Amino acid sequence: MKKVYLETFGCQMNVSDSERVATSLASRGFEITPNEELADIFLLNTCSVREKAEHKLYARVGRIRNSGREKPVIGIMGCVAQLEGETLFKKISGVDFVIGTKAVGRVKEAIDRVLDGDRDVADLGERERNYDWSVSDAQRNSPYVAFVPIIEGCNKFCTYCIVPFSRGREVSLPASEIIRQVLELRRQSVKEVHLIGQNVNSYRPPSGSEPSAVAGGLTQSIDNSGLEKFRGATPFSKLLRAVAATGIERIKFNTSFPRDFHADIVDAINENENLCNWVHLPVQSGSNRILKTMRRGHTIESYLKKIDNLKASKREISLTTDIIVGFPGETVEDFEETVKVVEYCGYDAAYIFKYSPRPGTPAFKMADDVTAEEKTERFQRLETVQRNSQNKALRRYLNKTLEVLAEKPSSRVAEQLSGHSTCHKVVNFQGSAAMLGKIVNVKISEIKANSLYGEVAGIQ
Ligand code: 5AD
Ligand code: SF4
Repeated sequence: MKKVYLETFGCQMNVSDSERVATSLASRGFEITPNEELADIFLLNTCSVREKAEHKLYARVGRIRNSGREKPVIGIMGCVAQLEGETLFKKISGVDFVIGTKAVGRVKEAIDRVLDGDRDVADLGERERNYDWSVSDAQRNSPYVAFVPIIEGCNKFCTYCIVPFSRGREVSLPASEIIRQVLELRRQSVKEVHLIGQNVNSYRPPSGSEPSAVAGGLTQSIDNSGLEKFRGATPFSKLLRAVAATGIERIKFNTSFPRDFHADIVDAINENENLCNWVHLPVQSGSNRILKTMRRGHTIESYLKKIDNLKASKREISLTTDIIVGFPGETVEDFEETVKVVEYCGYDAAYIFKYSPRPGTPAFKMADDVTAEEKTERFQRLETVQRNSQNKALRRYLNKTLEVLAEKPSSRVAEQLSGHSTCHKVVNFQGSAAMLGKIVNVKISEIKANSLYGEVAGIQ
């Protein structure tokens, strides 16, 4: 049996694609190996959102090629594969096949062709009509947490972003398929599902497959008439309610697009305990002038209104964000606006990036006029501001009891387990293997830079 080593860079959509590719290959005569020394086939699932990620790929293929043993088959999938296509064969020597973002259902066919002696095999075609979105238990990264894609692609075309080009237009999955998957995951004792997509709250299901149309028919545990009450609500908030009605223990969703983040999402969270108290809402910049040239579709005032509404929730919703520093034309004043927003919002975490020009995006034609030194300076300054603000924000968890899903043994300390709270903080605590997969009440006793530490106060 040929052994495949699958390596994944980038976002959760890539992680999810890899899980499905592994599921399909394992059911079609391949072995997925965690050990790269044993691999006959390397499959690299790539990211192109920033330049560094691409550089990493070039270096990685070089290392595989020069590892001193017989050269394995090397395949590239993901966003770099979609954008570069067949040019990758020229750019990186040793690549045997390239699979676009919609062609992930045909990796086996590509491998077969390479093994039959074909060279430079590329498949950048469309997704099959009957594409199988499910993931086998064995190929999921965690036995207790599962990613469920609900929308793929992006129609927003923020001027800096390559995703609309690498992942295509937004396509929502039928609500029936999503609910079917969540019910199946629940049956497999999965405790937490993440509904994922570039913009989950832009969810627009194909007609005839709206959450209210399918929910009642699928399971009696979903009250269709209950959903009817929410006629006029956004399809995403209805989907959230339908997924909540499956009874799965915890539901998280990621990423939300600020312009489409309507109050009915917060209402759904307020009314359903299993919709977790965490929202990732990327602000990108605090300056209206920059938000406009980024073409984000929100002003800082409209964004902060949504933050205020989230903060007013009785659920104490944890907020996280993404920010780009050094976008073309960003002045010191613009940057200071971003600093102010970070201080105001009190994010539990912020992912800060230096602007990286991506060929083919509208911003690529703008002068990249913030120097590398300036970008670094702003990056470091914002990190410090966020660290201080985060420290303050996280102190609210001290002495509180959080519900934590015990996911794995801690990598560093023996007899310590690690998991996520409902508010998506990493929490470490002393615990035994018997607790794995259970929801544990942990009383927080220590706040660290990016995680919390506490003692077990009970198991649910
Ligand atoms: N340069 C820097 N950061 C970027 N992101 C997306 N495109 C770029 C780019 N060209 C960041 C955004 C997005 C996150 C996933 O990556 O902040 O929200
Ligand atoms: Fe990129 Fe903007 Fe789409 Fe997010 S919403 S994937 S930043 S274009």
